[in-house]
Amino acid sequence: MDALEARFEETIAADQRIEPRDWMPVAYRRTLIRQIAQHAHSEIIGMQPEGNWILRAPSLRRKAILLAKVQDEAGHGMYLYAAAETLGVDREELTEKLIESKQRYSSIFNYPALSFADIGVIGWLVDGAAICNQVPLCRCSYGPYARAMIRICKEESFHQRQGYELLLAMVHGTDTQREMVQESTNRWWWPSLMMFGPPDGDSPNTQQSMAWGIKRHTNDELRQRFVDMTVPQATALGITLPDPDLRWNEERQAHDYTQPDWDEFKAVLSGSGPCNAQRLAHRRRAHENGAWVREAAGAYAEKQAARAARTEAVA
Ligand SMILES: [Fe+2]
Ligand SMILES: [Fe+2]
Repeated sequence: MDALEARFEETIAADQRIEPRDWMPVAYRRTLIRQIAQHAHSEIIGMQPEGNWILRAPSLRRKAILLAKVQDEAGHGMYLYAAAETLGVDREELTEKLIESKQRYSSIFNYPALSFADIGVIGWLVDGAAICNQVPLCRCSYGPYARAMIRICKEESFHQRQGYELLLAMVHGTDTQREMVQESTNRWWWPSLMMFGPPDGDSPNTQQSMAWGIKRHTNDELRQRFVDMTVPQATALGITLPDPDLRWNEERQAHDYTQPDWDEFKAVLSGSGPCNAQRLAHRRRAHENGAWVREAAGAYAEKQAARAARTEAVA
């Protein structure tokens, strides 16, 4: 082991952060680029199911909340692309990979938001699951990723609360509103469980990621934490989670629950979910429509640089 590698191992063992200028193994860099890019893409694609409801929000207040939430997700995407850039890739290249289907995003965003209750349930379950996944990433061994996650997690907690608050209003509303919340929960429960990734036995990269301090808990540990956190929240809403075998296990001090359909998960990841084609087509269109903005920004930057060079030459 050479000195650089020893230094890297020591830093990880001491639970210190690796910074962009530090030496790091090629595979560590590659893993982080893949994970951060996938995370950034998820934030950006994740704007679509909810963005679909901004024009149809039932009141000014609900519209303002939803707008703020969707805008936050755009911001999360930007922090994360910036974190990925510190590893030597550029955002342009990552965006190309997304729209050419060469990099993935979270399978959850390939499901449609069919009613306004989905806005509440997405905040409650999807942002709730995201929080379980992301809080440990605030202690990730790669500095720029960890720091981005601290900011993101603060906003995610607002997302979860706004969803839950909407659901509380709906379950105290009319029977139809209560039924809408139940129907939406039935649809989103299983895809939310899938957000933690495949069971530990099927997740070959987990051990290496944990050894590198990128991941702090296994997929199954995080999924269990999410289930245990969500059950009392469902009770408070008066909503049933659609799993007849969900029950408290006194011995394990945790809930037993049914696994989601992992074949469906694989099918959605490989492109055949209900909205995969629509999500990518929309992202591609938005990228094409934004070409003139990127060109104008590039031309402006060039002009500024030329002006700065002239001023320097005179001085
Ligand atoms: Fe986010
Ligand atoms: Fe969020």
